Formats: sequence, structure tokens, C-alpha cells
Amino acid sequence: MKKQFIALMFAVLPAFALAQAALEYPNDHVDIDLADKAALQDGARTFANYCMGCHSAKFQRYERVAKDLGISEELMMDNLVFTGAKIGDHMKIGMQPNDAKVWFGAAPPDLTLVARVRGTDWLYTYLRTFYEDPTRPYGVNNKVFPNVGMPNVLVGLQGRQVIGCKQVQVVEHGKKQYDPLTGAPITHEACDQLTVVPKTGALTEAEFDQKIHNLVTFLAYSANPVKLESQRIGVYVLLYLAFFFVFAYLLKREYWKDVH
Ligand code: HEC
Repeated sequence: MKKQFIALMFAVLPAFALAQAALEYPNDHVDIDLADKAALQDGARTFANYCMGCHSAKFQRYERVAKDLGISEELMMDNLVFTGAKIGDHMKIGMQPNDAKVWFGAAPPDLTLVARVRGTDWLYTYLRTFYEDPTRPYGVNNKVFPNVGMPNVLVGLQGRQVIGCKQVQVVEHGKKQYDPLTGAPITHEACDQLTVVPKTGALTEAEFDQKIHNLVTFLAYSANPVKLESQRIGVYVLLYLAFFFVFAYLLKREYWKDVH
């Protein structure tokens, strides 16, 4: 009986997997270039202005960020440090986790490593998919993080995003479908679509996407600040190996000359 039960559990497992896949909101892809200094600087500014009220990046120091991003110490102190911290300090915040729990139902986690945990595509989608939901305490919900405790702090930039019905193009096997006769896109009505109410935000949709792209670039850098450096050193290591190979080969030829 026990064996049969276990066999049954395995048999229905794929059904659970499918249910999970159907529920998950597809992530939008974002290309991240860690060498893009302008994106990193803009992202750091957004992070300090809009996120550090609640989230810390405590494994990171302001000084290191200034150096890596090519921001002068003075600019850094004037534009990015609002907590009375010194340039050599870690990027901590004043909010206490216990207070935060009472206010938001969950403490805002430290974000230094979040890009490694969640991935950049998830972050890019998460930050752009807050929508109005009057049943939630702060009036917003999120597509990839249902019932999230975080308020929509970027609503002033993005504008009010609402959920509703809209004509969308049919996609099958990852390919957009077109009418074979007219070439017109084939559409159907879908009722879980997000739309921004026009003129409610300071930025256009494209500008907002760019803002979030830059912010995610900064978070990706923060999760792995030595990545650029490792890539640079990696090139030297490979060049050295290629160079060394020539001499190793010549030496081998010399040794084996008399053996053959
Ligand atoms: C008003 C406070 C507040 C502000 C400001 C805020 N957040 Fe949050 N954030 C939260 C809370 C609270 C949670 C935890 C939500 C939960 O677990 O339900 C959270 C969760 C998150 C998560 C999910 C972390 C995880 O892996 O579970 C990310 C990512 C995030 N915030 C990014 C940001 C970014 C980027 C900004 C700046 C644009 C920002 N937050 C600004 C309160 C805030």
C-alpha cells in the first residue's frame, strides 16, 4: 500500500509542475552591461533616492561604489549619501527590521546580493509589474511577487498601473502569430493585462524601462563587484597560457627528439 502511494505521488508530480509553470508570470529579459558606467551611475542614484529608505546594501561601502562607478567622493556625499554616513561606511539604513515588520508585514531584505538570488530578469520584471489592487494594505500588488509587502515606491515615475482586458497578440511556441493571408497580427482578448494610465507618471514607458534597466544594472554590479575585474584578469591569464604553451611545446619537442 505504501509503495503504491509513493508511486502515485510520483505519477501526479508532473501535474504540480505544470500548475506551477502556468501560474508563474513570464519574466521579461534584460541585457545587462556591467561596463556601462552611465547606467551604473543612474542606477546608483535611483537606488539611493528610492530604495534606501527601506533597503540597505550593507555588504557594500560608499567609497568602493564611488571608485568603481567613477563618481567623485564629493558628488557621492552630496547626491547619494542621505543617512549621515561617512564615505568609508557600509550602505546601512536606519529602519529597524522589527518596526518594518509591523509597517509592511515583512522586513525589507538587504539588497546587496539580491541580483544573485533572484536573477536580473526577475528584478527587471518585478520592479515594472506593480499594479493597483484595492484589496491590499498599500493598494498595490505585484505580478511576480503576489501579495508583496512593498508599496509601489516608483509610482511617481511610472504612473498608475492597472490590470484589465486588452487585445494581445497570440504567441505559440514563443513565436508571435500572424495571419498568413493578410500578414496582420492575430490577437485575442486577455484580461490580466497591465496598462499604465496615461499622464499619471513623470516618465514615458520607454524612459521608465530604461530607469529600471539602469537600476538593475546597479544591483547586478552590487551583487558581484569584482566581476569586471575578474574578466580583465582572466584575459591576461589566457594570454599567459597561450604564450607559455609555445615554450612548453618547444621543450617537449626537444626532449622527445632522441626518443623517436
Ligand atoms: C517603503 C519601504 C520600501 C521601499 C522604499 C522599497 N522597498 Fe523593496 N521591499 C519592501 C518590503 C517591506 C519588502 C518585503 C516584501 C515581502 O516580503 O512581502 C520589499 C521587497 C523587495 C524585493 C524582494 C526581495 C526578495 O528577494 O524577497 C526587492 C527586489 C525590492 N524590494 C527592491 C526594491 C527596490 C529596487 C527599491 C527601490 C526602487 C525598493 N525595493 C524600495 C519595502 C520597500
